[in-house]
Amino acid sequence: MSVPATVSETSLEGLRLVRRGKVRDVYAVDAERLLVVATDRISAFDCILPTQIARKGEVLTALSRFWFTQLGHITKNHLLTTDIEDMPESVRAHADALRGRSMFVRRAEVFPVECVVRGYLAGSGWKDYRRTGEICGHKLPAGLRESAQLPQPIFTPATKAETGHDENISEACMAEIVGAATTERLRATSLALYLEAETYARARGIIIADTKFEFGLDAQGQIILIDEALTPDSSRFWPLDHYEPGRAQASFDKQFVRDYLETLDWDKRPPAPPLPAAVAAATTARYLEAYRLLTGSEL
Ligand SMILES: Nc1ncnc2c1ncn2[C@@H]1O[C@H](COP(=O)(O)OP(=O)(O)OP(=O)(O)O)[C@@H](O)[C@H]1O
Ligand SMILES: [Mg+2]
Repeated sequence: MSVPATVSETSLEGLRLVRRGKVRDVYAVDAERLLVVATDRISAFDCILPTQIARKGEVLTALSRFWFTQLGHITKNHLLTTDIEDMPESVRAHADALRGRSMFVRRAEVFPVECVVRGYLAGSGWKDYRRTGEICGHKLPAGLRESAQLPQPIFTPATKAETGHDENISEACMAEIVGAATTERLRATSLALYLEAETYARARGIIIADTKFEFGLDAQGQIILIDEALTPDSSRFWPLDHYEPGRAQASFDKQFVRDYLETLDWDKRPPAPPLPAAVAAATTARYLEAYRLLTGSEL
């Protein structure tokens, strides 16, 4: 059985690499536009794993494009095109390496906060709630169980840590970083995006338990949605038909990989251990399945 080829890293002659993130290689195409290449890298617990996930970069790109279109009435976004043929010649020269995994986008000045929305109690939200009864200053009813749906979705911003783990912050703290008016705008936009996406996804069998957006200012000083949108990497996706509060949920997303890693005696610090081929293949299947359920078509 042949294992599908994966891309761990790109190196594109003639384009200037501006950032290698945990998942994306970002190139400057010109002063105002970037090429964002989603590789097949996967990170868990903020470490990049030595194993790649086949087709992951494709799913992240196609799913983000889907949501940018679907939610375009709520906010402007950075996407210009995912079609290599419509990109400048300097990019088209690398068409074979880039097809399916690349977004040509407007470059933004990135706000240094992660705009997280939570509709359910999981992850660091669940941890904070158990300790303090609150998340990011939102007082929640007592007695909620793990994975419980919140009375209403809440905006729970976090700092973008260059290294290590992001830290949950209050809206007041976010306002000190980006200003009160911008905080209000990003909060309202993030909640509106989440609400519409959650309703849409739920009707297709997926609970979007929480998600993270990034925003920036474009060259005209307008706020735009950037990065990826509502993918299994930036969100917790749970299969609706297995949903049961009171425990952690099985999921379409990286939780599956995280769960495997939790069975190991690994201290969550680099270097991360490799994934068994079966875990990698099952993860590919989950990404493809999430795409199929949400968009109604096979990738
Ligand atoms: N339109 C844009 N303009 C400027 N930067 C962007 C834009 N879209 C995405 N980015 C940035 O490109 C990078 C994407 O890479 P990736 O998602 O792999 O990063 P990451 O490891 O998640 O890092 P980070 O914690 O900074 O998001 C992010 O730093 C993101 O902020
Ligand atoms: Mg990212």
